[in-house]
Amino acid sequence: MNSVCVCVCVCVCVCVCAVGLTGTKLGCAEGGCGACTVMLSRFQPDTQKLLHFSVNACLTPICSLHLVAVTTVEGIGSVARKLHPVQERIARSHGSQCGFCTPGIVMSMYALLRNQPKPRMADMEEAFQGNLCRCTGYRPILEGFKTFTEAACCGGRGRDNGCCLTNGSGDEKLFDDVTPPLFDAAEFTPFDPTQEVIFPPELMRSQSLCFHGDRSTWFQPTSLDEFLCLKWKHPNARVVVGNTEVGIEVKFKNMVYPVILSPTFIPELNAVTHTEDGELSYGGMAPTTVLARTTARRLLGR
Ligand SMILES: Cc1cc2nc3c(=O)[nH]c(=O)nc-3n(C[C@H](O)[C@H](O)[C@H](O)COP(=O)(O)OP(=O)(O)OC[C@H]3O[C@@H](n4cnc5c(N)ncnc54)[C@H](O)[C@@H]3O)c2cc1C
Ligand code: FES
Ligand code: FES
Repeated sequence: MNSVCVCVCVCVCVCVCAVGLTGTKLGCAEGGCGACTVMLSRFQPDTQKLLHFSVNACLTPICSLHLVAVTTVEGIGSVARKLHPVQERIARSHGSQCGFCTPGIVMSMYALLRNQPKPRMADMEEAFQGNLCRCTGYRPILEGFKTFTEAACCGGRGRDNGCCLTNGSGDEKLFDDVTPPLFDAAEFTPFDPTQEVIFPPELMRSQSLCFHGDRSTWFQPTSLDEFLCLKWKHPNARVVVGNTEVGIEVKFKNMVYPVILSPTFIPELNAVTHTEDGELSYGGMAPTTVLARTTARRLLGR
């Protein structure tokens, strides 16, 4: 097991700002507002698949990032280079006022699109569960981003293959004369999911690690045996996954956990399995978004 000396509890939000990436905002610092949302991507050696998910950087410990790619709002586009369609559409649909929540909202939408290039409205609403906007209000944000969804509609402004407003399948009330359209969707840059940044190939592996800090030691085992062995050696070790509970305790209640175990790279704890008789079994590490998606696919066939 490789061993490195580091301050175990520093959060990702502090680190991205320290390297000059100031797009990610620190609002509540306790996982409540979503202003600090970034996307993490991790290779899963057992399934050979990539996992993309949004997290609150204010509660994500720096140690949990080994072999993980972090995408901040600067990484997907900028005014100087070119805006990403997610950034362009929130701006053009008037979905940003003070802009403090905007990078977080953009990254929640971006992470959703990396997993589902054509999400449903319900998926989108769920993706924003952790994002608060104090001044704009959610209508322009949702209407702008609706153009990415299956329910996308050009508002009758003449897309090819017929608009739902003219073929009768749409909700015409949304676009009646009383509510003028916020934007012209026909002017939006098309979203092409094949043009996204690739995952760095050098991160496509797993590795047991140990980070030593002044107050805590962070172990990242890669097998269940190794994990159990460490837990046997350090019975009081705290297991950390999302860190949304432990992180609050450490930041705001001054709790100190001398040994922390991170099971992120243990295949069994990430696995979602279906048995012949219809039972679903989830590893304790599997992200809730993956659980929800798999369950819906299994039970509702979507
Ligand atoms: C803003 C905010 C709002 C919240 N709202 C709610 C709410 O409405 N309802 C609610 O119920 N909770 C709420 N919570 C609490 C939140 O749900 C829990 O903090 C979260 O579920 C813990 O998951 P985690 O992966 O982040 O756990 P961590 O913080 O990583 O760990 C939490 C505890 O579970 C243990 N643990 C974690 N993973 C494993 C594992 N795989 N095997 C064994 N033990 C494990 C840890 O040792 C630790 O004791 C909220 C938290 C925040 C920050
Ligand atoms: S700053 Fe509010 S969730 Fe992170
Ligand atoms: S634009 Fe101000 S909080 Fe959302």
